[in-house]
Amino acid sequence: MSTFVKVIVIGAGNRGKNYAEFATINPVRMQVVGVADPRTFAQKNLQKRHQIPDENTFSDWRQVADREKFADAVFICTPDRLHRDPAVALAKKGYHILLEKPMAVTEEECTEIVETCITSGVMLMVCHVLRYDPLISKIKELIDHGAVGDVMHIQHLEPVGFYHFAHSFVRGNWRNEAQSSFALLAKSCHDLDLIHHWTGGRRCIKISSFGSLNHFRKENKPVGAADRCLDCLVEKTCPYSACKIYLDRVKQGHVGWPVSVICSSSVPDIESVTEALRNGPYGRCVYECDNNVCSNQVVNIEFEGGLTVAFSMVAFTEEICQRKTSIYGSKGELTYDGNRIRVFDFLTKKTTLHSSESSAPESFAMAGHGNADYHLVDAFISAVASADPSLIHSGPEETLASHRLVFLAERARLENRVVFLVLPCFTYFSM
Ligand SMILES: NC(=O)c1ccc[n+]([C@@H]2O[C@H](COP(=O)([O-])OP(=O)(O)OC[C@H]3O[C@@H](n4cnc5c(N)ncnc54)[C@H](O)[C@@H]3O)[C@@H](O)[C@H]2O)c1
Repeated sequence: MSTFVKVIVIGAGNRGKNYAEFATINPVRMQVVGVADPRTFAQKNLQKRHQIPDENTFSDWRQVADREKFADAVFICTPDRLHRDPAVALAKKGYHILLEKPMAVTEEECTEIVETCITSGVMLMVCHVLRYDPLISKIKELIDHGAVGDVMHIQHLEPVGFYHFAHSFVRGNWRNEAQSSFALLAKSCHDLDLIHHWTGGRRCIKISSFGSLNHFRKENKPVGAADRCLDCLVEKTCPYSACKIYLDRVKQGHVGWPVSVICSSSVPDIESVTEALRNGPYGRCVYECDNNVCSNQVVNIEFEGGLTVAFSMVAFTEEICQRKTSIYGSKGELTYDGNRIRVFDFLTKKTTLHSSESSAPESFAMAGHGNADYHLVDAFISAVASADPSLIHSGPEETLASHRLVFLAERARLENRVVFLVLPCFTYFSM
């Protein structure tokens, strides 16, 4: 294989378009040679941006699977329930796969993807972007170098963000489990993956979880509120008003996320945003949607050796996805606040601060996840170019193991019990 990696983007939405930008910045390392998306606007935009020939543009991933293989790799960035089928079919065609998270929406489907990639001899990298964030990578490096001694307890918070939650999980694509997946899988498979990684892949012994959909329910609709924010008399007093989240932003010239998402077939402007709020899902009152996913959930885990974990996912926060972590060890304490890592050493009573340098271009950092998206694509393209899967930090087996933790936690929540696991691997019994 040449060092020049040819990629087909399957699903040219928010994520697909963003990852494809790597080719614009690094044209000698990656080229986008094909695109599949049923949305003409998205497909044509990507085609134009990357000068993709007409014969390599498709309205469905199946048309790519029906063709002779014409690239090295595919970026699968389709909606959650559309991961398994393209991943399995395209792995069988011999494409290396960059697959958006969650891998798939059931444990069986995830297992099938992993097994197919292994038997087909193709590389699989799941987009656990945080694994590629230089500062977050530093946490693992510090743990491995004994900065806190033996890890005893991990406390981890994912603050989803009040308007982010309203956008994605009340009005948007991830609001309803039957159409996407449960909130812990959709939002926090990243977090359980990090936790699993920080434990060094230790075996989970017990897991419990509680959570529900709070607040964004019909019974909490304020008196006098309309079904659409554009018609609402009490909109001014509502922090979740679509007028505030979208219309005020576009009036200030902001056309990126989340505004870009609601105008799926045009460039956002005041007119198209108003039209989307008038008729589309994003103009609905947050108390009148068909949402059912949890707004807050906790997961408690005991790993082998007595290491305990407390994880929280909360919708009602100022910060958007800026994780907070504390790792307590036998020799010290590590805290991460999204900007820096602080390590306190019990013996010397000294505090050390760590920050990180990133070589990601500014334009990529603007697209989301800080600079992690850039480093993620960089790792995948390097792995494919050099045929070296060790450059992939979120490969098949490890990702499957961390996704299993998510399925187990959700099972514990739904069945209202502690799930116990016995040797050698995931065999369940209940108490
Ligand atoms: N890694 C992360 O942190 C992260 C962040 C956000 C979203 N995601 C995940 O990325 C995936 C995509 O999310 P998004 O925000 O880009 O959504 P999106 O809706 O913007 O993009 C999905 C695209 O897939 C296209 N599509 C649908 N059916 C198709 C088919 N049959 N063939 C080809 N394309 C098809 C849609 O038309 C759409 O353009 C989801 O699974 C989501 O959960 C991951």
